[in-house]
Order: sequence, then structure tokens, then C-alpha cells
Amino acid sequence: MRKLRIGVLGSGKGSNFRAILDAIAHGRLAAEVAVVVSDVEGAGILRLAEEAGVKNATVIDRRYKTRLSPETEAELVAILTEAGVELVVLAGYMRMVKAPLLEAFPRRIINIHPSLLPKFPGLEAWRQALEAGEKVAGCTVHYVDAGMDTGEIIARAEVPVLPGDTAETLHARIQVAEHRLYPEVVATLATSDFR
Ligand code: GRF
Repeated sequence: MRKLRIGVLGSGKGSNFRAILDAIAHGRLAAEVAVVVSDVEGAGILRLAEEAGVKNATVIDRRYKTRLSPETEAELVAILTEAGVELVVLAGYMRMVKAPLLEAFPRRIINIHPSLLPKFPGLEAWRQALEAGEKVAGCTVHYVDAGMDTGEIIARAEVPVLPGDTAETLHARIQVAEHRLYPEVVATLATSDFR
């Protein structure tokens, strides 16, 4: 079976990227990570890519913190296109995605967010859920559009909020659910006729 070529963008430790690699290694996901790109020098996700022998690059824009300039984003598009990427997987990528990338990969960019969207978009969503007194939290995989965590929802997974939870314990429980959900969604897309 032909493997879906994915490009992973991340700013952090890369645990979702690791879960995707594990799913590929165990035959649960017919995909190949063609390239990993980070906006943070020395990010954990880049170290993981190195260890796994996955091509990787750093694309930094020091002018902005929460997005890339159109010129820098065009560089990112060039790297993804050059690597033959069919699906862009955001895994802890802390910048908003704008026109050059969205236009280059229409309905081909997905993100995982640590809340049951549309509730709690934005930063530290698990903390927002805890502070709002939610009894159920979780994570959402969605297509990416120009908004902040607003794109069409593909799948969600729930986790309980337990008595005595702190932001840290709740986040850890949500991440366990993320590591199951994200590879499953990518696997479904890989075998769908979206390409
Ligand atoms: C995850 O909690 C994800 O929901 C959010 O960023 C975090 C990334 O974690 N978008 P990691 O780098 O995959 O460990």
C-alpha cells in the first residue's frame, strides 16, 4: 500500500510526533514522515526527528512570535513541497498558519488541540477547562483554517476531570488521549480518498 507522506510541524517536545512514529512502526498507520519542521532551535521534536533519521529543518521568524511573515511561511511551504508532503500535521506548533501555507495545502493541514473544541480554544486549554469547573475534558483533531482552533472538527476524545486534578495532572491525562487519537485520525485520512 502506498504510504501517505506527512510533514510534521512542532515547537515543543514532540510527544505527538513520537506517537505517530510509534503507530507507523507498529503498522497501525500507513504513512511516512517526510520532514519535520520546527520554529524553535533545538526543540525536542527536532531531536526526536534526528534520532529517528527523519529529515528536519528549522524555520524561524524572529519578527513575530505567534505567526510567520508571508516570506518565511513561503520558505516553509517550499520545504514541505520539496519533501513531497501530502498532509501537514501540526503537533504542538505554536504559530498561527496564514495564507501561503493554507493555500498550498487546502484541507490538508490538521491540528490537535487539548480541549473539546469549540470549548476552550487558545493557550493552556486544559487549565481553562479546570478553572471552568468542567467534569469532562479532552482533545480535538481539526482541519486548520485562518482562525485560532476554529477549523472543522474531525474527531474528539474525552477524558474525565478527576477530584484533586491540577493543571499538570489533567494535561498529562489529555496527552495520553492525544497520543491515541492523533495517529488514529492520520491513519483514517491515509486510507481515505482525500488524496
Ligand atoms: C499538545 O498538548 C497539543 O494538544 C498542543 O500542543 C501540545 C504538543 O505537545 N497543540 P507535544 O509537543 O506533541 O508533546
